[in-house]
Amino acid sequence: MCGIVGYIGSRQAYPIIIKGLKRLEYRGYDSAGIALIDGDLKVYKKKGKVAELEEILIGKDLQGNVGIGHTRWATHGEPSDRNAHPHISNSNNLSMIHNGIIENYVQIKNELLKNGYSFSSDTDTEVLLNFIEDIKENNNSTLEEALRFALKRIVGAYCILLIDKDDPQTIIAARKGSPLVIGIGKNEHFLASDASPIIEYTKEVVYVNDYEIAIVRADELILKNLGNEKQTPFITKLDMELAAIEKSGYDHFMLKEIFEQPQTIYDCLRGRLDAEKGTITMSGIQQYAEQIINANRIIMIACGTSWHAGLVAEYIFEELCRIPVEVEYASEFRYRNPVINKGDVIIAISQSGETADTLVAIETAKEQGAIILGVLNVVGSSIARKSHAGAYTHAGPEIGVASTKAFTAQLAVLTMIALKIARAKNTIDEERYFLLCKELMEIPDKVALVLKQNDNVKALAEKYKNADDFLYLGRGYNFAVALEGALKLKEISYIHAEGYPAAEMKHGPIALVDENLPVVFVATKDSYHQKIVSNMQEIKARKGKVISIITEGDVVSPTLSDDVIILPTADEIVAPMLSVIPLQLLAYYIGIAKGYDVDKPRNLAKSVTVE
Ligand code: G6P
Repeated sequence: MCGIVGYIGSRQAYPIIIKGLKRLEYRGYDSAGIALIDGDLKVYKKKGKVAELEEILIGKDLQGNVGIGHTRWATHGEPSDRNAHPHISNSNNLSMIHNGIIENYVQIKNELLKNGYSFSSDTDTEVLLNFIEDIKENNNSTLEEALRFALKRIVGAYCILLIDKDDPQTIIAARKGSPLVIGIGKNEHFLASDASPIIEYTKEVVYVNDYEIAIVRADELILKNLGNEKQTPFITKLDMELAAIEKSGYDHFMLKEIFEQPQTIYDCLRGRLDAEKGTITMSGIQQYAEQIINANRIIMIACGTSWHAGLVAEYIFEELCRIPVEVEYASEFRYRNPVINKGDVIIAISQSGETADTLVAIETAKEQGAIILGVLNVVGSSIARKSHAGAYTHAGPEIGVASTKAFTAQLAVLTMIALKIARAKNTIDEERYFLLCKELMEIPDKVALVLKQNDNVKALAEKYKNADDFLYLGRGYNFAVALEGALKLKEISYIHAEGYPAAEMKHGPIALVDENLPVVFVATKDSYHQKIVSNMQEIKARKGKVISIITEGDVVSPTLSDDVIILPTADEIVAPMLSVIPLQLLAYYIGIAKGYDVDKPRNLAKSVTVE
């Protein structure tokens, strides 16, 4: 949450920072701001999106070879100009941006108030900044020393960039819990929350670790730990192309990412699954195969859409591997003192690899002896670095706030892991194993066929865009898809939607059904198909509007449905990768029809790095 960018070198900092902020806007867009040093310290900030900041900057003095910029998802203090970052210290010399939360800020603020400090915002960030200044002034210390001291006192998470008018050759950065990447150029450095603002300029980056401070100058990068010991920066080469973070002719990132799915799923399978030979090569999983096979249980930990992927995987793992699986919301798991036994296998599922709750949950489980495997999209992310091993989803950067291609890639990876373990454990017969490998390999082409339904789904969106509520129902493997469909609609079109197991609706939600309620059935052919058809009948009998997602050849469901979307046949285990696609499109087109910013839905942020 919150995106931060910094630049120091011989170019003008402003254009680099503003472009970087636009790339990071998915992390939050409540307000944006920028600080530049060019003799003077100049700070500009504005409530709203980066484009609104840009507007007020026309004609302003934007000179400077050093600068920091911020796009905010509000935690402390409402979204407003005054709460926007960067903040300025009481002396007007220091300026700082921050991604994270300082939990003990009230106590520190009270101390500072007693020392005569005043505050012009409601943020924890301004408190930390003045705390640093207070230490610097009172102890006659350098900014770096004061920062180090302050960081030892504070409780919480942070990634901060700090500049000092009196030392325009330096940006000081520090992180704990919130990500920071530093790009290394020729006599210049770029700092950002992720690599997307950096790849245009350099592919050599350093991922800063927790509890490290970076002293960044044009020609120098010094890393230290909080004990003031120098650390060797580990330079990584970025494996990402600029085109991957641009819209490539699509109106929105969300649509681009939905349409990328045949390719992203293929990229995820490529080099791993050989359907003809029946081999699945996943070195990280192979390394821990014995432990997974012998595990008494597997716990999937995730949030949001990734949690839904975990829920589908629960069904797949239990069916194929005969290992009990629990799927946990990271936020609940981490606080409820869960029972973790040595040898429990935890699979952390996360697109960003930065979700704070998931990160802390796995840290806790790791301390208690669990094996942590990550199913992650962002290479080098915090969760990746905390996991024992895992498998990347290779879906490429996902920028639309509502997750789409990451979900299907997670399903592809989780299915491969389940198949690999099931075969090694002997819980799947060879015929079924080979069939499922083949089915999985065919998914990219089948997704391309589903995407051909784009215009049909668009027409459905037009027809149902004014509904106040939606119900999404599914059974078995499609239950989690129903939840995901409802989540997509809520996120993008702000229509209230509930996902439910189809049979369970008789225990409550069926009371909502009348002639105005659209009910989306995720009803592709599976072992429970007859059951869900009965559920359709129950909705029809109460005059609900039935929209069903079905498999070709199904002649019964259309007779009970007001509208149908027909998908190619697929085994029930891989079908969620197909059945979710029309639901993603439906949410997208309803959001568009209602005139909303689908890539940046209100109140949301893509990377939730605060708990
Ligand atoms: C946010 C995003 C969701 C995402 C969830 C988990 O809420 O808006 O799209 O599913 O975080 O994120 P992760 O990066 O851990 O998958």
